[in-house]
Amino acid sequence: MDHPRMTLISANWKMHLNHIEALELVQQLAERFRASTIPAGREVSIHPPFTCLAMVGATIAAERVPISLGAQTCHYADAGAHTGEVSAGMLAALKVRYVIAGHSERRARGETDQVVREKIDAIYRHTMQPILCVGETADERHRGVAEEKVRQQLAAALSGRPAELVAAAVIAYEPLWAIGTGATASPDDVANMCSAIRDELERVAGTHAAAMVRIQYGGSVTAETCEALLSGKDVDGFLIGGASLDAEQFSAIVIG
Ligand code: PGA
Repeated sequence: MDHPRMTLISANWKMHLNHIEALELVQQLAERFRASTIPAGREVSIHPPFTCLAMVGATIAAERVPISLGAQTCHYADAGAHTGEVSAGMLAALKVRYVIAGHSERRARGETDQVVREKIDAIYRHTMQPILCVGETADERHRGVAEEKVRQQLAAALSGRPAELVAAAVIAYEPLWAIGTGATASPDDVANMCSAIRDELERVAGTHAAAMVRIQYGGSVTAETCEALLSGKDVDGFLIGGASLDAEQFSAIVIG
C-alpha cells in the first residue's frame, strides 16, 4: 500500500438482533478475534441497533477486543422535543466512535442532503466520526450520471468544512442497486468511483485531507468478493450489512 490509511471494516446490523441475540453474536466475534488477531492495518467497527449499543460496548470493553463502537444514525439536534430520536451526545456518552449518516435506506424515507449535513454537524460537535453514505441508483448508472450524483452528495455534506474535519470522515460508496441484492459492483467500477470520490474530496478540502479519508465500498460484500474489491488503490474497507450478521462470514472478511 502506498498510503498510511487504516482499512476500516464496518458491520451495519441494521434493524436486526435483539439485545440477547446481539450479545451472542458479539461474543462469537470476540472469540474469533481473540484467537486469530485482526491483521495489522485493519480496524473493525460494529453498528448495532440503539437498544444494543450499551451492551455491545460493555462486552467489547470487557473482552478487550479491538472493535470500535458505531451507530447507524443520530438526530441533528442536541436535545429537545423529538420523540423517539437519539442525539449525537447520547451516542458519544456511550463511547461511540463512528456514526453512519445518509444511508440510502434512510434517504429513501425522506432524509435529505440538508438533514444529512446537519447530522454530520452534530456528529462532529460531539467529536465522533461520520461514515457518510453516497451512491447512485441503477437508473442513474444507466443514464451515465452516477459520478455526478456521488460528487453532488459529497459536496452537499462536506463542502465548507475545515480540512481537519473532512480528514476524519469516512465515506461509504454504496450503489443502491448493490445493497442487499447479491449484485456486487465490479472491482473496476468500485475502484473508479472511489478514485472519483477522492478527487472530489481534494476539490472540497485539499489534497492532504483527501489523502486521509477512508473510502469504503458497501453492497453485498461477502468473504468471496472482498479481496478483489479491496485491490483498488482508493478502496479502504467495507460497510457490510447481510454478511456482518454471521460471525464466520464477517470474521473471514476481517481476517482474510
Ligand atoms: P449489504 O448492505 O451488505 O446487505 O448489501 C450494505 C449496507 O447497506 O450498508
